[in-house]
Amino acid sequence: MFGQQVLDLIFPSRVLFGIGTRGRVGSLAGELSSGRSALILTDRNLEKMGFIKEIREHLEEAGFRGEVFSEIEAEPQEETVLRVAEHVRSLKPDIIIGVGGGSVLDMGKTASVMATNPGDPLEYFGAPLMPAKRSPERRGAPKILIPTTAGTASEVTQFAVIIDRDRRTKKVLSSPYAMADLALVDPSLTSSMPPRLTAGCGMDALSHAIEGYMSLWSNPLTDSVSLEASRLIFENLRKAYYNGGDMMARYHMSLAASMAGMPLANARVVLGHSIAQVIGPRYGLPHGIACAMALPYAMRYNLPVLVEKFCRLAWYMGIELNGVKGRSAAVRVVEEVSNLAGELRIPLSLNELGIAREDLPEIAEDIMKYQPRPNNPRLLVKEDLKELLEDMWNGKII
Ligand SMILES: [Fe+2]
Repeated sequence: MFGQQVLDLIFPSRVLFGIGTRGRVGSLAGELSSGRSALILTDRNLEKMGFIKEIREHLEEAGFRGEVFSEIEAEPQEETVLRVAEHVRSLKPDIIIGVGGGSVLDMGKTASVMATNPGDPLEYFGAPLMPAKRSPERRGAPKILIPTTAGTASEVTQFAVIIDRDRRTKKVLSSPYAMADLALVDPSLTSSMPPRLTAGCGMDALSHAIEGYMSLWSNPLTDSVSLEASRLIFENLRKAYYNGGDMMARYHMSLAASMAGMPLANARVVLGHSIAQVIGPRYGLPHGIACAMALPYAMRYNLPVLVEKFCRLAWYMGIELNGVKGRSAAVRVVEEVSNLAGELRIPLSLNELGIAREDLPEIAEDIMKYQPRPNNPRLLVKEDLKELLEDMWNGKII
């Protein structure tokens, strides 16, 4: 209940945001470390892009030796963590620079924590009901995180997420010691994202904003950011999707994605991410697409207890209510979110993806077991979840 709540808010120590800010990476690294070796983490595709070479040159101009490590795949597995930890522990870099999407940035945080903390790297990852065996005791090595997508907000959160193969879900390293020392957000790095990636990442950002807004752990501070981030996404995601070269749209999408990291880090996400983190690993769906599919259904599930909040959100989403009030207005909000996803060609039914109907009870079971979310405003009840998944299979949102 708000009013009795103790607010313990997490923010990154510094965010530098703006087109062209990547050119300052060398001098900023120099402010964070007096050492000489920099480890640049990225992935194989990005390694071929000109900006990795450029970032390396900026670091070299500032006196750092920049070594590139690009063996990071999308949706990292336990092996990725072990590989990254082994590399960072043997190289002992003075500073870590992560340049990429959420997976790369999550591994940047992992590398930083493993550089200064001992033991089995996998013991630092846990699922909500099965907390990690250990939490980092020491601040990680200095790190700068530079996103090349607009969505995950990894650059401003304390989480690193990997696939838990045994349980077919995701598990998380969560620690203030994993936060970036500097989030360097240069929206021009996102301009080469193809439409499908723009859509998935943009809807992931919207999920962070709206799920954080639905969370029982939300408060006026996180809500104000959720609402404004939602407004920016509704005003700009379509533009960025249809014209990737629209730099104003890219600018505002990057801003909205990093902003939505604030409710994500503090109010945390709810049922939408629970569904996504079960169906994503199980059927090999990218995180953003799984979140986009789940969001309208999670909103519908929570609608009965959030009518007033959804009515407030309507204004930020640019919905003309024309006197429509209460539940009907809240329903319009859910419809508008699903219209946006549909327009971005995100599948809205599990059936469309070829997922077997017989899998639904097990999916409901796994959500209850591995992704329980005590901050979801409507209690997660297995029978109700099964009904929701049934509707999700049929594509029946409202
Ligand atoms: Fe997410």
